[in-house]
Amino acid sequence: MQFKHLKHTEFTSSRLIYGCMRITGENSEADRKKGKAAIYSAIEAGYNHFDHADIYGGGECESLFGEILKESPSLRDDILITSKAGIRPKKKHSDYSPTRYDFSKQYILESVNGSLGRLGVEQLDLFMLHRPDFLMNVHEVAETFAILKASGKVKHFGVSNFKPSQVESLRSVMSMPLVANQVEINIHNIDTLIDGTLDQCQQHKITPIAWCPLGGVAYPAWGNTFTSEDEQRIEIELKLQAQKYQCQPWQVILAWLLLHPAGIFPIIGSTTPSRIAAAKVALDLQYSREDWYRLFEARNGETVP
Ligand SMILES: NC(=O)c1ccc[n+]([C@@H]2O[C@H](COP(=O)([O-])OP(=O)(O)OC[C@H]3O[C@@H](n4cnc5c(N)ncnc54)[C@H](OP(=O)(O)O)[C@@H]3O)[C@@H](O)[C@H]2O)c1
Repeated sequence: MQFKHLKHTEFTSSRLIYGCMRITGENSEADRKKGKAAIYSAIEAGYNHFDHADIYGGGECESLFGEILKESPSLRDDILITSKAGIRPKKKHSDYSPTRYDFSKQYILESVNGSLGRLGVEQLDLFMLHRPDFLMNVHEVAETFAILKASGKVKHFGVSNFKPSQVESLRSVMSMPLVANQVEINIHNIDTLIDGTLDQCQQHKITPIAWCPLGGVAYPAWGNTFTSEDEQRIEIELKLQAQKYQCQPWQVILAWLLLHPAGIFPIIGSTTPSRIAAAKVALDLQYSREDWYRLFEARNGETVP
């Protein structure tokens, strides 16, 4: 595993983060067992940074992780735990309230308490706002962050799925730095390459964390718009590069993300131990600029101007 300093913090994070969104599956006994095995295999492979959210598995993912921390209490000192909040799912069909985003002080403070309780820890290393609340009051968010920091419940703060203008707006009123922006980046969704997100990350030393890094390749991305011809073109180029680098096509995709100078940290969400370990191969590929552009061209179906 490779490790890298997380700017604006005292932390060193594994270059691949393990994503805990799928660790409870359908929440059957067998799925939970599989999820635990996945976590242990991630630890074994050297991952020291684990990504959560209050809503993953309806809270069960954090609870399962809490069970592991109970089994191995000394683990807490060796790992970084990120969690997120701000999405309020509709609970039942009969609920009056729709699924919504909520960055109100009361809701965020309650959510963080919930995460700490389920994980069985006193502090989150990194807390992120999950998806931009259309009703976000940046002053209220800054005040909430300050309360969480002062109480010791959260060490550092970040955002997720924020556009550059939203990051800028929040940064302008915060008394502490924004450490990370967790966004979807993959061969299908390249928004962050062109909407200023990754430029802003470089400018302000905000760490970009890529969720769904294999979307569009290992499995269809959310809202996949690739045609079968697009997919074929990408597959041909990936196969060629996989041969050249003596690895698997999906590892090339991770290398494609890792080459970006903003220093993207991909989150690996597989629950298959062999894949969790094999993702590390991407860290050692001497991936070239030429191949980056070849894959970009295959993705776009045309050369850059
Ligand atoms: N901030 C946000 O809004 C947001 C949104 C989504 C996710 N996330 C975070 O990002 C993490 C990763 O997201 P993700 O789980 O969607 O991403 P992912 O790692 O790109 O994909 C995981 C899925 O792809 C399959 N897969 C992985 N590698 C594969 C391969 N080589 N070949 C075939 N299938 C493969 C996995 O199946 P197996 O399990 O069977 O291997 C799993 O179903 C999540 O766990 C969560 O922590 C954040």
